[in-house]
Amino acid sequence: MNFIKVDSYEKLSNMAANIIADVVKNKENAVLGLATGSSPLGTYARLIEKYNAGELDFKNVTSVNLDEYVGLDGSNDQSYRYFMNKNLFKHINIDINKTFVPSGCTDDLKSEGEAYDKMIEDLGGIDIQLLGIGLDGHIGFNEPDEFFTKETHVVKLDDSTIEANSRFFASKDDVPREAITMGMYSIMQAKKVLLIANGKNKKEIVKKAFFGPITPYVPASILQLHKDVTVIYSEN
Ligand code: GLP
Repeated sequence: MNFIKVDSYEKLSNMAANIIADVVKNKENAVLGLATGSSPLGTYARLIEKYNAGELDFKNVTSVNLDEYVGLDGSNDQSYRYFMNKNLFKHINIDINKTFVPSGCTDDLKSEGEAYDKMIEDLGGIDIQLLGIGLDGHIGFNEPDEFFTKETHVVKLDDSTIEANSRFFASKDDVPREAITMGMYSIMQAKKVLLIANGKNKKEIVKKAFFGPITPYVPASILQLHKDVTVIYSEN
């Protein structure tokens, strides 16, 4: 594991964007695994700057996102599809038809999960997976549990996650109780994993996840078994 500590969110974002940019430049038809949350916002802003400067071309890039709230469609401004369009896709030349976010709005979420995993497999897997980390150690929406779940699946969100994410909603009651998330198989099969975390409140969970025991009660800890993982942490 490559654990990098930096002293500002700006440095974290620059470094993360450079790592993703290298994949886009060097891999033909790169498949980017993307994340939502506040952590990647700076990284996406840097990628947009690089695109505007003519350094990056996303024409042949495909993206697969980690997760989506159950019950929110892409027109809902709290959905992760909306977030991705707003904060990245509409500013770069990626083909929107090659941007994938699991749907939390179908009648059959189990089939949606199976189709999502098959689609990732058919793409040849993910070249680089960007991740944030929840305060309880979740990645995507893989919440602490007795076991790791392999496939894309529906999860009940932990109260701490609902509480943490309520800052984006009008009230805590408006936060969906369930989400659909990529499971550990596709994440662990990614050729590279890049996890970014910032803020003093993430210090403890980052320590547990990367320097503590590997346990499904701290989902991100499974990444210690990945052969190419970079963690960038900034306390500020
Ligand atoms: C959400 C997302 C995660 C994200 C986490 C942390 O719950 N599903 O993918 O990593 O929040 O978010 P933030 O970066 O805002 O702390």
